[in-house]
Amino acid sequence: MSNDPLLQPFKLKHLTLKNRLMTTSHEPAYPEDGLPKDRYRLYHVERAKGGLALTMTAGSAAVSLDSPPVFNNILAWKDEVVPYMKRLADECHEYGTAVMIQLTHLGRRTRWDKADWLPAVSPSHEREPAHRAFPKKIEDWDIVRIQKDFVAAAERMKAAGLDGLEIEAYGHLNDQFWSPLTNTLDVPYGGSLENRLRFTFEVLTKIREKVGPAFILGLRYTADEVQTGGISKAEGLEISRRLKDSGLVDYLNIIRGRIDTDAALTDVIPIQGMKSAPHLDFAGEVRAATQFPTFHAGRLSDVATARHAIATGKVDMVGLTRPHMTEPHIVKKLMEGREEDIRPCVGANYCLDRIYQGGLAFCIHNAATGREETMPHIVPKADKKKRVVIVGAGPAGLEAARVAGERGHEVIVFEAADKPGGQIRLTAQSPRRKEMIGIIDWRMKQCERLDVQFRFNTLAGADDVTAEKPDVVIIATGGLPHTEILKEGNDLVVSSWDIISGDAKPGTNVLVFDDAGDPPALQAADVIAAAGGTVEVMTPDRAFAPEIMAMNLVPYMRSLQQKGTTFTVTWRLIAARRVGNQIEAEVGSDYGAWTTRKLYDQIVINNGTRPLDEIYFELKPQSSNLGEVDHQALVHGRKQAVTTHSSGAFQLFRIGDAVAARNTHAAIYDALRLMKDI
Ligand SMILES: Cc1cc2nc3c(=O)[nH]c(=O)nc-3n(C[C@H](O)[C@H](O)[C@H](O)COP(=O)(O)O)c2cc1C
Ligand code: SF4
Repeated sequence: MSNDPLLQPFKLKHLTLKNRLMTTSHEPAYPEDGLPKDRYRLYHVERAKGGLALTMTAGSAAVSLDSPPVFNNILAWKDEVVPYMKRLADECHEYGTAVMIQLTHLGRRTRWDKADWLPAVSPSHEREPAHRAFPKKIEDWDIVRIQKDFVAAAERMKAAGLDGLEIEAYGHLNDQFWSPLTNTLDVPYGGSLENRLRFTFEVLTKIREKVGPAFILGLRYTADEVQTGGISKAEGLEISRRLKDSGLVDYLNIIRGRIDTDAALTDVIPIQGMKSAPHLDFAGEVRAATQFPTFHAGRLSDVATARHAIATGKVDMVGLTRPHMTEPHIVKKLMEGREEDIRPCVGANYCLDRIYQGGLAFCIHNAATGREETMPHIVPKADKKKRVVIVGAGPAGLEAARVAGERGHEVIVFEAADKPGGQIRLTAQSPRRKEMIGIIDWRMKQCERLDVQFRFNTLAGADDVTAEKPDVVIIATGGLPHTEILKEGNDLVVSSWDIISGDAKPGTNVLVFDDAGDPPALQAADVIAAAGGTVEVMTPDRAFAPEIMAMNLVPYMRSLQQKGTTFTVTWRLIAARRVGNQIEAEVGSDYGAWTTRKLYDQIVINNGTRPLDEIYFELKPQSSNLGEVDHQALVHGRKQAVTTHSSGAFQLFRIGDAVAARNTHAAIYDALRLMKDI
C-alpha cells in the first residue's frame, strides 16, 4: 500500500473514507427543475471513478421556499429530489465514494424577486451587499417553520441513502444568527453567544433525533469573520468547542472570513495570483483546539499543498474542489504514479464566476467537466490512424493536438512564434495571472507523451500544410487586436496587447477605451498604472469590464483603485487628433448626438480581435468539405462527414479565435468536441 499521506484511509465515526481527498460542497448550477438529473449525477460519478473518497454534493441545497437559490441549486424541499439523489449516491457508492449533501437556508443571501416572490428573511433588516435584498426580520413562526424544513430535507437525504449531510453556516441564515453584525434579535435568539447559537443547535438536535447516530452530520462554518464587530477568532474557537461538546456533529468544516461582498468572498475562495492555502493554518488551529475531525478547502491548489496539509496534521480531510473540476481523476493518477499527468487548476475561477451570472460552472480548460454526458475525460482511440496538421499552438491548437494524439493520430503542429501559448502567453505576462501558463504547459507535456511533432518559428503557408499530405487540417491561428474603429486618428492609438506585451511604452496620462469589456483592457490599465501613469478606463457600456466577472474583478480593483484609476461609463471614443505633443480624444454617446473633448498623451484601445484566417481561405478550395462544419453532428457528438468537394484532399476546420473572438474555454471546447470524433 502507498505511504502517500493523501492515500491513507480516514475513519469518520462508523464510515471509512478511503483516502483524504474530498470535494467540498459546490453547486455547479447543473440541476434541472431543482433536481440532480443526468448531467449532475454523471459529474459526481466521474469524480467517484477518479477515486475521490467523499463527494459533498450540492452546495447550498435549499430547504425552504423563502430561500430561493441565487444560482441554480438543488431544491431539497421537493420530495421528488429523493430518487435522483438515490441514483447519484448508489452509482458513486459502486466506486467506494461516500456521498453527502450540504443543506442550507440562505436567509438574506438571496433575492425576493426570484421563484415565489417571498421576502428574504434574516435576524436583522441589514441588507447583504452582494444580493441586495432588504430582508424581513425573522419572526418566531418563521423559526419554527424553517427548523421543520431543515429536518424534512434531512429525512429526504437519509431516505436517498446518502452517508450524511452538512449545514452551511457562512453567510447564510445559520451564521446570520451567530454574527452580531446580522443579528439584532432579543432573547432567546439574540444577544449572548449562547442565544445566537440557539437556532443552529436546535436545528442540529432536531435533525439528529430524526436521522439517528449512524448518519454523518457536520457543519461548514466561519470560525472567524475577520471583521470588526463580527464573530472573532476567540468566539469561533469557542463555537468549535461547543459544537464538538454537543455530540451532535461528527466533523467541523472550517471557513475563515465573510462572503457578503465580492471582495470578501474572494478572500474566502482565493483565485489565481492570490496566496495559496491562506486559511489552512487557521483550520489547523481549530483542529488543535478541538482534537476533532476537521475538514478544509481553500486554494490548496495542488497535490503537494494538500499532502502537506495532511502530513502536518493540520486537517483530516482536504477539499480539492476546483482542482477536481479541472481533473476528476486526481486520486487515480496518484495511485498510478502519474502525478505529473494531473491537469492543474490554474485558479482562473471561470467556474465559480459563471454561476453568479446565471451560467453553468465550466472549467476554463477542461471542457468535459459538466458535460460528462457528451464529452470524454478519457479520449478513446480512433479506429483508423490519420495524419492531422494543426496550424497554431495556442489553447485551441494545443487542445486539438492533444486530443488528436490521444485518438492515436499522427499530429504535426506549425507555430509562427518560438513558443506555444498564443494569447495565453500574453495573459500570463501579468504576475497575478502567470498561473494561466499551466493551461499550455500541461498540454505541451501531454503532447510530448503522445509524440506530437512541433514546428516552431514557422509561419506556415498553404503549401507547407499540403506538403504534409494531411487527412485533416485544423486552423487554430487565433486573431489579432482590432483597433481601427475611429472616424479619424486610428494611427494615433495603440492596442491593449501592445501595452501588455511591452511593445508600446506606457504613457503618463492615458485613456484606455474598452469596447470589448474583457480582461486585456484592465490588464493594460494595470501595466500603465504600475509604471506610474494616470489611467482613465472608458466604456460605452452601462458598467465597465462587463466580461470580467465578479471575483476576477477583485484583484484588478484592489490594484487599480489604489493607483487612482478612474472609470467612465456610457461614453464612446469617436476620434483622436494630434494637438502638440498630446492627443485630443473626441468622445460621444450612444444616447444622443452630444460630444466632449479631452487631452491625453496616450490612447489605448481594447476592442477584441479579428481572425487570422488567410491560410484557412487559401486551403478551403482544396478541402473535401470546403471548410463546412456540420453543426448537428458537432453538437450531438457524431463524426464530421460533409463532402461538398469530393476531389478535395483533406477535411478542413478552423477553431477558436481564428473563427471569431471568444474566450479560452470556447477555444478549448471547439477543439475537444471536434477532435474527439476525428
Ligand atoms: C462552482 C462552485 C460553487 C460553489 N458553491 C458552494 C456552495 O454552495 N457552498 C459552499 O459551502 N461552498 C461552495 N463553493 C466553495 C467550495 O466548496 C470551496 O470552498 C472553494 O472552491 C475553495 O476550495 P478549492 O480551492 O479547493 O476550490 C463553491 C465553489 C465552486 C467552484
Ligand atoms: S475554471 Fe479555473 S479555477 Fe475553476 S476549476 Fe478550472 S482552472 Fe480551476
